[in-house]
Amino acid sequence: MAKDWNPSSWRAKAIEQVPAYPDANALADTEKRLATFPPLVFAGEARKLKRALAEVAEGRSFLLQGGDCAESFAEHGADNIRDFFRAFLQMAVVLTFGASSPVVKVGRIAGQFAKPRSSAFETKGDVTLPSYRGDIVNGIEFDEAARIPNPERQEMAYRQSAATLNLLRAFAQGGYANLDNVHQWMLGFVSGSPQAERYGQLADRISETMNFMRAIGITSETHPALRETDFFTSHEALLLGYEEAMTRVDSTSGEWYATSGHMIWIGDRTRQLENAHVEYCRGIKNPLGLKCGPTLKADDLIRLIDVLNPQNEAGRLTLITRFGHDKVAEHLPRLIRAVEREGRKVVWSCDPMHGNTITVNDYKTRPFDRILGEVEGFFDVHRAEGTHAGGIHIEMTGKDVTECTGGARPVLAEDLSDRYHTHCDPRLNANQALELSFLVAERIKKEHETLQPRQVASF
Ligand code: PEP
Ligand code: CO
Repeated sequence: MAKDWNPSSWRAKAIEQVPAYPDANALADTEKRLATFPPLVFAGEARKLKRALAEVAEGRSFLLQGGDCAESFAEHGADNIRDFFRAFLQMAVVLTFGASSPVVKVGRIAGQFAKPRSSAFETKGDVTLPSYRGDIVNGIEFDEAARIPNPERQEMAYRQSAATLNLLRAFAQGGYANLDNVHQWMLGFVSGSPQAERYGQLADRISETMNFMRAIGITSETHPALRETDFFTSHEALLLGYEEAMTRVDSTSGEWYATSGHMIWIGDRTRQLENAHVEYCRGIKNPLGLKCGPTLKADDLIRLIDVLNPQNEAGRLTLITRFGHDKVAEHLPRLIRAVEREGRKVVWSCDPMHGNTITVNDYKTRPFDRILGEVEGFFDVHRAEGTHAGGIHIEMTGKDVTECTGGARPVLAEDLSDRYHTHCDPRLNANQALELSFLVAERIKKEHETLQPRQVASF
């Protein structure tokens, strides 16, 4: 058990990004109620994910993590969840089959509600209001009442997470992820695109392989790995009162676990060594992520690793780097070298979204070629350093949104207003996400040629 730690020890620390709740008693009442609600995930599942991530840390597997920047109450529905899951499965199968690599599947979903903001206030014309901090905190509408942090929203977020997770479990285990359905995962609006054609060819090869296996007696009825998959959830552990309420002792191990999601991460704005977010995360046993931006110094990273992964356990810590397409070559090598020098076991994952945000026609957007550029840079650096490019962390949706510019079927600057639906940062649409996965599959294949041989892929 972590020394001098308990689920509320973060409260004695300095903290960033705290919403100004007007009624402390109402907040405390909500947190007390949440603490009596059932856990969303189980400790055993978090341990399973940690074991899967240990395989990534050892260079034998690849992490695909993605989903909304911010989930919203308004967009909660079966169609959105299904379309996200389809797009995600397509990406996963492209990586698994296209690169012959096992893929660890982690959604930014079923709990990804709280948002850190660069500014506490937002001004439009001559009106200044508190910034939107995610549906778990306040409303996105630019009006005074909506922007007041309301603790009841935490209960809504919990209930939405439970419903989302329930459907995801059904999709992952109930037959939807069956490889016999590989053609059906194609989303209607993607068809006709260059990615659709490429995906169709890959799906044909998988079907052919499935037919061959069926002929020799291996079917999805006899082999569960062909009909179901492990899908895990994750979110930024930003709203610590909520996280504390969802922190429970695991009856098998006697250890503390965050039960709000399988994996949680610390954002780039809240990773101060002495502060509350690091304090909370060090004491729970789930796999953790740590966002690493350009301002992170190598020795501070090592200190953070000391605190967050003192046993040097493979799979415990994923470093999610987000530098920007033009900065990855400058910053990633110094962090990799420090980690290698100190012999720390980590998963290296690339977030090509958060360092590549620009404003075009008043819309926050991300040019697709810059996103690809950061991913390419990430693989190039790992290749040069002889380390494993372990994963990608992306903001994506299964919907045909126009939020990031570019791609093979390009979204133009003037298209941004057409279907710009995100509640926070611009996401890849399903076409762009699929295109990215083909590029990543190529790069993983190339890595296999230079690093040690991998085990045979399983889906
Ligand atoms: C995010 O992942 O949505 C985010 C805010 O990222 P970062 O902490 O890296 O800025
Ligand atoms: Co974001």
